[in-house]
Amino acid sequence: MKLSGAMALVLLLTNAAHAQDGGEPVRGREVARVNCSTCHAVSRNDQLSPNPSAPPLQRLADAPGVTAMALNHLMHSAHKTMPLIVLAPEDQRHLIAYILSLRSR
Ligand code: HEC
Repeated sequence: MKLSGAMALVLLLTNAAHAQDGGEPVRGREVARVNCSTCHAVSRNDQLSPNPSAPPLQRLADAPGVTAMALNHLMHSAHKTMPLIVLAPEDQRHLIAYILSLRSR
């Protein structure tokens, strides 16, 4: 996904506001451990996914211009090898908040 710098900044700021009144990263980590960790590395600084073709969650978080909306979309769009995982809306919010909390820059 390509966004202009200014646009990405607006999205990041909007997203930061949402993350605060939305999900709780601590609960999201548990959601990730249960639902994603069979394939994705889910911990901070863990760059080795059990399934080598699944990007570590931290790498997703660090992608330029990534937002809660973008992550939601990526998770729910068709993937060749990833099953469609539908979580309760609340769990989804916690999960996204957790992934965004992994951002290292
Ligand atoms: C059965 C294995 C498996 C599970 C479970 C799984 N994934 Fe994936 N996921 C993959 C693979 C493999 C890819 C990369 C290839 C593809 O797009 O299909 C991927 C890709 C993704 C992408 C898209 C990356 C991109 O740039 O397009 C996101 C976002 C993602 N996973 C998030 C999650 C989240 C969040 C969970 C837990 C709720 C999860 N995945 C659970 C295997 C899995």
